[in-house]
Amino acid sequence: MKISVVGSGYVGLVTGACFAENGHHVSCIDVDDQKIAQLKNGNIPFYEPGLSELVIRNQQAGRLFFTSDLAKEVKDSLLAFICVGTPSRKDGSANLDFVYQVAKDIVHANDQVILVTKSTVPVGTALQLKSMLGQLGKTKVRVVSNPEFLREGCAVEDCLKPDRVVIGTDSSDVEKTFQDLYQPFVRSGNPVMMMDHVSAEMAKYVANCLLATRVGLINEMSLLCERVGADISQIRKAVGADHRIGSQYLFPSIGFGGSCFPKDLRAMASLFRDHEMRAHITESTILANDLQKKNFCHNIKNYYLGQNLSIAHKKMAIWGASFKARTDDVRESPALDVIDFLIKEEAKVVVYDPQANDHVAQIYGTQVVCVNDSYEALDGAFGLCILTEWNQFRNPDFGLMSSKLARKVIFDGRNLYEPERMKALGFDYQSIGRS
Ligand code: UDX
Repeated sequence: MKISVVGSGYVGLVTGACFAENGHHVSCIDVDDQKIAQLKNGNIPFYEPGLSELVIRNQQAGRLFFTSDLAKEVKDSLLAFICVGTPSRKDGSANLDFVYQVAKDIVHANDQVILVTKSTVPVGTALQLKSMLGQLGKTKVRVVSNPEFLREGCAVEDCLKPDRVVIGTDSSDVEKTFQDLYQPFVRSGNPVMMMDHVSAEMAKYVANCLLATRVGLINEMSLLCERVGADISQIRKAVGADHRIGSQYLFPSIGFGGSCFPKDLRAMASLFRDHEMRAHITESTILANDLQKKNFCHNIKNYYLGQNLSIAHKKMAIWGASFKARTDDVRESPALDVIDFLIKEEAKVVVYDPQANDHVAQIYGTQVVCVNDSYEALDGAFGLCILTEWNQFRNPDFGLMSSKLARKVIFDGRNLYEPERMKALGFDYQSIGRS
C-alpha cells in the first residue's frame, strides 16, 4: 500500500517506520524542512530505543521516504495518517488547528483518500472532519479513527506488536483495507477491532485515564503507608497478584508525567464540563498527582529542617530528569517540579540524565548545571534526588557515592533500592511509601 504519514513527530515517525517495516511504501511528511533534512540523513530528533535502526533500514530498502511536499506525496496515497500535535489550550481542551489544516491540505491533493486520525484527538473529531469534508464537497473521502497506544521508551515494540488495533469507521468498505494493513502486526492473534468513530476516539482516553488512575491510586496509598508503617512494595506485589488487577501500572512513583497522561486527563475533564458534567475521579487523579509531587518536595524540606539545616546555597544532585526511563522526553516530567522547588529554595542544582540533559539545559539555562557523569553530579552534594528509574541507577557503586556526597542522603522517587540495605550502608534513605 502507498501510505502518507503527515507529521513526523513521535507518533508519526514510529508509525511510518513500522508500516515500512511491514513492506508498505511510506512517506513521512513534515512542514519542518530542517527536520526532514535531518531524517533523510538518518538522524532521529529524539531518543527512542530501536527507532534509528528501523528508520535507516527501511530508508535503505527504499520503503521509507521523508519530504515536506505534502501535495505530491498524498496525491496517489491510499491512506493518509494525520499525526500532528494537538497541544493543550489553557482550559485543558485540545487545540485542533493543525489537524484541520492538514486534513484540508490532504483532501485538496487527493479527494479519494482514506483520512486517518492517529494522534490522540478529542472525542467527536472524526464527525467534525466529516462535516468539514461535506462542506468542502469532498464526499468521497473516508474518515477513520485509529488511535495509537504506544508508550515512549518501547514505542517500536508497542507499534509492531500492539495488544489491539482500534479502528473507528462508518464505511464498511474500508474494513478490509485495515484488516490487510494490520494483519502482519497481529499475527499472534491480537484483535483488530472495528467500531464507530466516537467509541474509537474515546477508547484511547479511557485507557489513559484508567492507567493514570491506577498509578494515582497506588501513589495515594503510598502516602498512608509512610504514616502507618506499611511497605507499598509488598502491597503492590500482593495486590498485583490478583488476576483481576494484574501487576502493571502499580509502581509507586514521584508522580506520572509525559505528553499523554496529564494532557489526556485534562482533556477528559474538559469534555465532561462541556457536557455539563464533572469527571470526579479523573479530576481527583490530576489533583492527587500534583500532591504526590509536592509531597516529595515537602519531604526534602522537612528532612533538612529536622536536622536544623537548609539547602540554600548547597549543592543538590539530581539523577534522572525525563518523565520515565528510556526516553529523553521531559514534558510534564515530575523531575521538573523538583528542580523548580530546589531552585526556589536557592539550592545549587546539578543534574545528570543519560539522555535528557540537553532538554534540561534548554529549560533552565544557567539556573542548573548538567553533567555527563552520574558520579560527578554527587561531588560535594548535600543530598541526591533520584527522579527517573534509569537502569544504570539500579546498581551503582555505593562506596563511590558515599565518598563523593557531602551528606549521605538519598531521596528516591522511584524506589530503586532496599531501605534495609541503604541503612546498612550508612545512607539516610527516603523512598515512596516505605517507612
Ligand atoms: C502512555 C500510555 O501508556 C500509552 O498507551 C499512550 O499511547 C501514551 O501515554 P507514555 O506517556 O509513553 O504512554 O508513558 P507510560 O509508560 O504509560 O508512563 C506514564 C507515566 O506514568 C510515567 O511518568 C511513568 O513514570 C508513570 N508510571 C507508570 C508510574 O509512575 N508507575 C507505573 O507503574 C507506571
